[in-house]
Amino acid sequence: MASTLQFSVTFLTLLLFSLWVVEAHTSRKLVSIKEEGQDVSHLIKDGELDDPSMTMFFKLGDLKVGNKLPIYFDKLDLQRLPPLLTRQEAELIPFTKSKLDFLLDHFSITKDSPQGKAMKETLGRCNAKQIEGEHKFCGTSLESLIDLAKKIIGANANLKVMTTKLMVPSPNMISYALQNYTFVEAPKEFFGIKMLGCHRMPYPYTVYYCHGHRGGSRVFEVNMVTDDGRQQVVGPAVCHMDTSMWDIDHVAFKVLKMEPRSAPVCHFFPLDNIVWVTKKEMET
Ligand SMILES: *[C@@H]1O[C@H](CO)[C@@H](O)[C@H](O)[C@H]1NC(C)=O
Repeated sequence: MASTLQFSVTFLTLLLFSLWVVEAHTSRKLVSIKEEGQDVSHLIKDGELDDPSMTMFFKLGDLKVGNKLPIYFDKLDLQRLPPLLTRQEAELIPFTKSKLDFLLDHFSITKDSPQGKAMKETLGRCNAKQIEGEHKFCGTSLESLIDLAKKIIGANANLKVMTTKLMVPSPNMISYALQNYTFVEAPKEFFGIKMLGCHRMPYPYTVYYCHGHRGGSRVFEVNMVTDDGRQQVVGPAVCHMDTSMWDIDHVAFKVLKMEPRSAPVCHFFPLDNIVWVTKKEMET
């Protein structure tokens, strides 16, 4: 048990270290996993999806071997990752929307720039109250991310990290275009586990927004291959079984063209996301 945790934490450190150098992407990709309401009309043009990152969503019934789905994995640009702060560094900087003007000034970012707007949105999401039945937090350093994840899903269990891995025969063959992927294996379901998904937020330094639901999520590991057989994706997928509390305007309902709150919603995870999973403690 301890060695798995050790391994995962070491792995996460390496992962975050490799993400370390990156600047915030636009917030575009991150909206794909949004649980709060938002105006998504700009993403849907003539009834068709105009933002390929929205293809992260799918229906529970899609999850079967042989089935094909178009998916877009945004490039993980290592040159553009923002710095990862230590806890000591992060604690010196306020992280609240009420200090937005101070923060914009501190990072020399103008309010109306895309970065300024993204900062405002990130702070808003991180400061927002959690919806019922949901755990959420934002981690502003590696230490806080690990501590909060342990606090929420369990400190001494088998804490593991899952990320989406994109595999190609050689690095120059990677394609980040929208592609059809076929499930080449039956999705592997993890039973009796708790999970927490962490999405990287656009911010001048590395911030992860993490959330998990107290019940009703099914977690899978999927294995998918492109039509030309050259590119394989192995990674987590989660299905939120109870969407009855979700915002009626949730982007997923529009993307999947389904009656809001009527059925489960599943999604894959972008390449820079972190999914924590742990076995539920045995109840005696
Ligand atoms: C995926 O496959 C469908 C049906 O086979 C096809 O219409 C569509 O153009 C393909 N999409 C991509 C991105 O290749």
